[in-house]
Amino acid sequence: MGFTIAIDGPAAAGKGTISRAVAAHFGFAHLDTGLLYRAVGAKMLAGEAPVDAARNLVPEDLESDELRSPGVAQAASKVAVIAEVRAALVDFQRAFARRAGGAVLDGRDIGTVICPEAEAKLFVTATAEVRATRRFLELTQKGTVTTLEEVLADVKARDERDMNRAEAPLRPAGDAVLIDTSTLAIEEAVAKAIAAIEARRAD
Ligand code: CDP
Ligand code: CDP
Repeated sequence: MGFTIAIDGPAAAGKGTISRAVAAHFGFAHLDTGLLYRAVGAKMLAGEAPVDAARNLVPEDLESDELRSPGVAQAASKVAVIAEVRAALVDFQRAFARRAGGAVLDGRDIGTVICPEAEAKLFVTATAEVRATRRFLELTQKGTVTTLEEVLADVKARDERDMNRAEAPLRPAGDAVLIDTSTLAIEEAVAKAIAAIEARRAD
Protein backbone atom coordinates (compact mmCIF):
# COMPACT_ATOMS: atom_id res chain seq x y z
CA MET A 1 0.00 0.00 0.00
CA GLY A 2 1.24 3.52 -0.74
CA PHE A 3 2.35 5.85 2.04
CA THR A 4 3.35 9.43 1.28
CA ILE A 5 5.59 11.57 3.47
CA ALA A 6 5.51 15.31 2.63
CA ILE A 7 8.45 17.40 3.89
CA ASP A 8 8.27 21.15 3.31
CA GLY A 9 10.21 24.16 4.54
CA PRO A 10 12.46 27.08 3.56
CA ALA A 11 15.90 26.94 1.90
CA ALA A 12 18.63 24.94 3.69
CA ALA A 13 16.40 24.01 6.65
CA GLY A 14 17.52 20.37 6.39
CA LYS A 15 14.65 18.99 4.26
CA GLY A 16 16.89 17.05 1.89
CA THR A 17 19.07 15.59 4.64
CA ILE A 18 16.02 14.50 6.66
CA SER A 19 14.21 13.20 3.55
CA ARG A 20 17.12 11.00 2.48
CA ALA A 21 17.47 9.54 5.99
CA VAL A 22 13.71 8.98 6.34
CA ALA A 23 13.50 7.35 2.89
CA ALA A 24 16.37 5.00 3.79
CA HIS A 25 14.77 4.19 7.17
CA PHE A 26 11.38 3.24 5.71
CA GLY A 27 12.70 1.86 2.40
CA PHE A 28 10.75 4.50 0.43
CA ALA A 29 11.69 6.33 -2.77
CA HIS A 30 12.69 10.01 -2.45
CA LEU A 31 12.02 12.96 -4.76
CA ASP A 32 13.70 16.34 -4.19
CA THR A 33 11.09 18.50 -5.94
CA GLY A 34 13.35 21.56 -5.74
CA LEU A 35 15.40 19.93 -8.50
CA LEU A 36 12.44 20.25 -10.89
CA TYR A 37 12.29 24.03 -10.37
CA ARG A 38 16.09 24.27 -10.45
CA ALA A 39 16.17 22.43 -13.80
CA VAL A 40 13.57 24.83 -15.24
CA GLY A 41 15.50 27.78 -13.78
CA ALA A 42 18.73 26.55 -15.41
CA LYS A 43 16.96 26.25 -18.77
CA MET A 44 15.59 29.78 -18.41
CA LEU A 45 19.15 31.04 -17.76
CA ALA A 46 20.16 29.20 -20.97
CA GLY A 47 17.49 31.12 -22.91
CA GLU A 48 14.53 28.73 -22.94
CA ALA A 49 10.98 29.86 -22.12
CA PRO A 50 10.23 28.55 -18.58
CA VAL A 51 6.78 27.13 -19.39
CA ASP A 52 8.13 25.19 -22.40
CA ALA A 53 11.06 23.98 -20.28
CA ALA A 54 8.71 22.73 -17.54
CA ARG A 55 6.49 20.92 -20.05
CA ASN A 56 9.46 19.22 -21.75
CA LEU A 57 11.51 18.27 -18.69
CA VAL A 58 13.15 14.81 -18.81
CA PRO A 59 14.79 12.87 -15.92
CA GLU A 60 18.33 13.55 -17.23
CA ASP A 61 17.68 17.30 -16.74
CA LEU A 62 17.76 16.70 -12.97
CA GLU A 63 21.26 15.25 -12.93
CA SER A 64 23.53 18.24 -13.54
CA ASP A 65 25.77 19.45 -10.66
CA GLU A 66 25.23 22.98 -11.92
CA LEU A 67 21.68 22.84 -10.45
CA ARG A 68 23.18 23.34 -6.95
CA SER A 69 24.60 26.81 -7.72
CA PRO A 70 23.18 29.95 -6.03
CA GLY A 71 22.42 31.52 -9.44
CA VAL A 72 20.25 28.54 -10.40
CA ALA A 73 18.54 28.60 -6.97
CA GLN A 74 17.46 32.21 -7.55
CA ALA A 75 16.30 31.40 -11.09
CA ALA A 76 14.33 28.43 -9.67
CA SER A 77 12.45 30.66 -7.24
CA LYS A 78 11.64 33.07 -10.11
CA VAL A 79 10.19 30.40 -12.42
CA ALA A 80 8.38 28.90 -9.38
CA VAL A 81 5.99 31.88 -9.23
CA ILE A 82 4.64 31.08 -12.73
CA ALA A 83 1.34 29.18 -12.43
CA GLU A 84 1.82 27.32 -15.77
CA VAL A 85 5.28 26.14 -14.70
CA ARG A 86 3.88 24.72 -11.44
CA ALA A 87 0.92 23.13 -13.26
CA ALA A 88 3.24 21.37 -15.72
CA LEU A 89 5.08 19.67 -12.84
CA VAL A 90 2.06 18.46 -10.83
CA ASP A 91 1.29 15.10 -12.51
CA PHE A 92 4.86 13.83 -12.26
CA GLN A 93 5.03 14.68 -8.54
CA ARG A 94 1.62 13.14 -7.75
CA ALA A 95 2.44 9.92 -9.61
CA PHE A 96 5.71 9.69 -7.70
CA ALA A 97 3.92 10.32 -4.38
CA ARG A 98 1.41 7.51 -4.90
CA ARG A 99 3.91 4.82 -6.00
CA ALA A 100 3.18 1.46 -4.37
CA GLY A 101 6.34 1.17 -2.27
CA GLY A 102 5.93 4.48 -0.41
CA ALA A 103 7.46 7.89 -1.16
CA VAL A 104 9.10 10.89 0.49
CA LEU A 105 8.81 14.22 -1.36
CA ASP A 106 10.47 17.41 -0.16
CA GLY A 107 9.78 20.94 -1.35
CA ARG A 108 7.59 23.93 -0.52
CA ASP A 109 4.00 22.88 -1.35
CA ILE A 110 3.97 19.09 -0.99
CA GLY A 111 1.71 18.96 2.09
CA THR A 112 -0.49 21.85 0.95
CA VAL A 113 -0.94 21.44 -2.83
CA ILE A 114 0.76 18.37 -4.32
CA CYS A 115 -0.28 15.82 -1.66
CA PRO A 116 -2.79 17.29 0.76
CA GLU A 117 -3.78 13.67 1.48
CA ALA A 118 -0.23 12.63 2.48
CA GLU A 119 -0.24 10.26 5.45
CA ALA A 120 2.57 12.17 7.22
CA LYS A 121 3.59 15.84 6.85
CA LEU A 122 6.59 17.64 8.32
CA PHE A 123 7.46 21.32 8.15
CA VAL A 124 11.19 21.68 8.70
CA THR A 125 12.54 25.11 9.57
CA ALA A 126 15.45 27.00 11.18
CA THR A 127 16.46 30.64 11.56
CA ALA A 128 17.64 32.37 8.37
CA GLU A 129 21.11 32.87 9.93
CA VAL A 130 21.52 29.16 10.75
CA ARG A 131 20.29 28.16 7.29
CA ALA A 132 22.60 30.62 5.52
CA THR A 133 25.59 29.42 7.57
CA ARG A 134 24.86 25.79 6.62
CA ARG A 135 24.49 26.64 2.93
CA PHE A 136 27.63 28.83 3.04
CA LEU A 137 29.67 25.91 4.44
CA GLU A 138 28.31 23.59 1.75
CA LEU A 139 29.15 26.03 -1.04
CA THR A 140 32.66 26.85 0.19
CA GLN A 141 33.42 23.14 0.68
CA LYS A 142 32.55 22.65 -3.00
CA GLY A 143 34.93 25.49 -3.92
CA THR A 144 32.28 28.14 -4.69
CA VAL A 145 33.63 31.63 -3.92
CA THR A 146 31.02 33.56 -1.88
CA THR A 147 30.47 35.29 1.47
CA LEU A 148 28.10 34.53 4.34
CA GLU A 149 26.40 37.91 3.77
CA GLU A 150 25.79 37.06 0.13
CA VAL A 151 24.33 33.62 0.98
CA LEU A 152 22.11 35.13 3.72
CA ALA A 153 20.78 37.73 1.26
CA ASP A 154 20.10 34.95 -1.29
CA VAL A 155 18.26 32.81 1.26
CA LYS A 156 16.14 35.76 2.47
CA ALA A 157 15.27 36.83 -1.09
CA ARG A 158 14.10 33.28 -1.91
CA ASP A 159 12.14 32.97 1.35
CA GLU A 160 10.35 36.25 0.55
CA ARG A 161 9.48 35.14 -2.99
CA ASP A 162 8.42 31.64 -1.87
CA MET A 163 6.21 32.86 1.00
CA ASN A 164 4.54 35.75 -0.80
CA ARG A 165 3.68 34.29 -4.21
CA ALA A 166 0.03 33.83 -5.15
CA GLU A 167 0.47 30.25 -6.37
CA ALA A 168 1.29 27.55 -3.78
CA PRO A 169 3.05 29.84 -1.27
CA LEU A 170 5.41 28.33 1.29
CA ARG A 171 3.46 27.68 4.50
CA PRO A 172 2.95 24.73 6.84
CA ALA A 173 -0.07 22.52 6.18
CA GLY A 174 -2.55 22.66 9.07
CA ASP A 175 -1.75 19.05 9.96
CA ALA A 176 2.05 19.25 9.57
CA VAL A 177 4.42 18.48 12.45
CA LEU A 178 6.86 21.38 12.89
CA ILE A 179 10.55 20.60 13.39
CA ASP A 180 12.87 23.53 14.12
CA THR A 181 16.40 22.31 13.39
CA SER A 182 18.17 25.56 14.46
CA THR A 183 19.82 23.93 17.46
CA LEU A 184 19.57 20.27 16.39
CA ALA A 185 22.36 18.04 15.13
CA ILE A 186 21.42 16.10 11.98
CA GLU A 187 20.94 12.86 13.97
CA GLU A 188 18.54 14.62 16.39
CA ALA A 189 16.52 16.16 13.56
CA VAL A 190 16.28 12.78 11.79
CA ALA A 191 15.22 11.03 15.03
CA LYS A 192 12.44 13.61 15.59
CA ALA A 193 11.25 13.21 12.01
CA ILE A 194 11.14 9.40 12.23
CA ALA A 195 9.30 9.54 15.58
CA ALA A 196 6.68 11.92 14.14
CA ILE A 197 6.16 9.68 11.09
CA GLU A 198 5.99 6.50 13.19
CA ALA A 199 3.24 8.16 15.24
CA ARG A 200 1.24 8.78 12.03
CA ARG A 201 1.85 5.23 10.81
CA ALA A 202 0.42 3.88 14.04
CA ASP A 203 -2.84 5.88 13.55
O1 CDP B 1 17.10 20.48 1.62
P1 CDP B 1 17.37 21.75 2.36
O2 CDP B 1 17.77 22.86 1.46
O3 CDP B 1 16.25 22.14 3.29
O4 CDP B 1 18.59 21.51 3.36
P2 CDP B 1 19.75 20.39 3.32
O5 CDP B 1 20.42 20.41 2.01
O6 CDP B 1 19.22 19.09 3.83
O7 CDP B 1 20.69 20.93 4.48
C1 CDP B 1 21.54 22.05 4.29
C2 CDP B 1 22.85 21.81 5.04
O8 CDP B 1 22.59 21.87 6.45
C3 CDP B 1 23.50 20.46 4.77
O9 CDP B 1 24.88 20.68 4.59
C4 CDP B 1 23.24 19.67 6.03
O10 CDP B 1 24.26 18.76 6.32
C5 CDP B 1 23.17 20.76 7.08
N1 CDP B 1 22.31 20.41 8.23
C6 CDP B 1 22.78 20.59 9.50
O11 CDP B 1 23.92 21.03 9.65
N2 CDP B 1 22.00 20.31 10.60
C7 CDP B 1 20.76 19.86 10.45
N3 CDP B 1 20.02 19.59 11.54
C8 CDP B 1 20.26 19.67 9.16
C9 CDP B 1 21.06 19.97 8.06
O1 CDP C 1 17.63 23.26 -1.42
P1 CDP C 1 16.88 24.54 -1.19
O2 CDP C 1 15.90 24.41 -0.07
O3 CDP C 1 17.78 25.72 -1.07
O4 CDP C 1 16.04 24.84 -2.52
P2 CDP C 1 15.18 23.84 -3.39
O5 CDP C 1 14.33 22.99 -2.51
O6 CDP C 1 16.06 23.15 -4.36
O7 CDP C 1 14.19 24.83 -4.16
C1 CDP C 1 14.65 25.83 -5.05
C2 CDP C 1 13.48 26.77 -5.31
O8 CDP C 1 12.47 26.06 -6.02
C3 CDP C 1 12.77 27.29 -4.06
O9 CDP C 1 13.34 28.49 -3.54
C4 CDP C 1 11.34 27.49 -4.54
O10 CDP C 1 11.16 28.76 -5.15
C5 CDP C 1 11.17 26.44 -5.63
N1 CDP C 1 10.39 25.28 -5.18
C6 CDP C 1 9.00 25.40 -5.18
O11 CDP C 1 8.47 26.46 -5.48
N2 CDP C 1 8.22 24.33 -4.86
C7 CDP C 1 8.78 23.16 -4.51
N3 CDP C 1 7.98 22.13 -4.22
C8 CDP C 1 10.18 23.03 -4.47
C9 CDP C 1 10.97 24.11 -4.80
